[in-house]
Amino acid sequence: MKRTVELAEASEVALPPSFAPLLIEWQRHSGRSGLPWQHTRDPYLVWLSEVMLQQTQVSSVLSYYPRFRARCPDVQALASASSDEVMALWSGLGYYSRARNLHRCAQVVVNEHGGVFPRTAEGLQALPGIGASTAAAIAAFCYGERISILDGNVRRVLSRLLAFEGDLAQQGPQRALWSMAQALLPEAPSLDDMTAYTQGLMDLGATVCVRSKPLCERCPVQSICRACASGQTTRFPIKTRRLVRRFENWWLLLVRDATDAAQPRFWLARRPPTGIWAGLYCPPVYADELSLTAALPAAMQARLEPLEPVAHSLTHRELRLHPLLLSVKAGQEPSLPPGQWVGASALADHGLPAPVRLLLQSMST
Ligand code: ADE
Repeated sequence: MKRTVELAEASEVALPPSFAPLLIEWQRHSGRSGLPWQHTRDPYLVWLSEVMLQQTQVSSVLSYYPRFRARCPDVQALASASSDEVMALWSGLGYYSRARNLHRCAQVVVNEHGGVFPRTAEGLQALPGIGASTAAAIAAFCYGERISILDGNVRRVLSRLLAFEGDLAQQGPQRALWSMAQALLPEAPSLDDMTAYTQGLMDLGATVCVRSKPLCERCPVQSICRACASGQTTRFPIKTRRLVRRFENWWLLLVRDATDAAQPRFWLARRPPTGIWAGLYCPPVYADELSLTAALPAAMQARLEPLEPVAHSLTHRELRLHPLLLSVKAGQEPSLPPGQWVGASALADHGLPAPVRLLLQSMST
């Protein structure tokens, strides 16, 4: 059967119907089958592994996953673990907001869903920290839902397969590729088919259709790959908006003394005379969360309260600010990095970066 997908600009795009059967067959014979998070339909375990595997190599996850699973074998155990313990289990894996979201999500599943994960991608995506692709992976692996994952690897595979000329920096083409990913799914798949298909997409992207020097001679869909046929494999995916700005995460230690609730004060440090926000007042900045935590006595570390991250664009940087709030009472402050107290009413007299000003204002009332 010929498959097409309707697009806003091009009226129809023909899709190769043999893609799904070829991929499933290949995954069953040549794909990865010995990873410790495979061969389970437990949504907790699939979710845990998928979150660990975001932005992280399989080789790193291999040692963390069994340890985490041994300590927190189910969602109830994770929900009732202390945040210190969860952070310790995650320590070294990076992107620590994943661990905090994981913990929070487990508590939501236990407290609001009776400890049972939603059974659809849509329901899963409504949980904290579960994005579209992770929700699709859980729904496909555990419940056989006919839904496609679409992470960076899969975008690469599909944009090459279809020689997709759309600019994936733009939302329209992104949505179009998503429609095609859905249209390429196997028809009326069994649970095992959806598992093999989803794992096949992951395996193909990770081991064959790699970013540079793809191994086309080992590809199960080489015969139907349009990019390969035209000898232009590495021209895809197309993404025009090259990252001219460097992405950086900054962790802010936001110490607030609200002994006098009407007049809170904040611990601010003067930024160095050169560089970003030169000479402005700012909460102490750390390059990662562990360094921030390590700057505080152990008793204070547990009291850190993560606030919503704030995105802030500068000319050459895309900053993502992660404020961690420490509320103290006068006379009980820990030894703090160099800085000074600035009262809420004095903020207007101090040079503050715009996002910091907004943040402090929101904490002053
Ligand atoms: N990357 C993301 N999810 C994965 C999985 N389930 N197996 C291997 N690599 C992955």
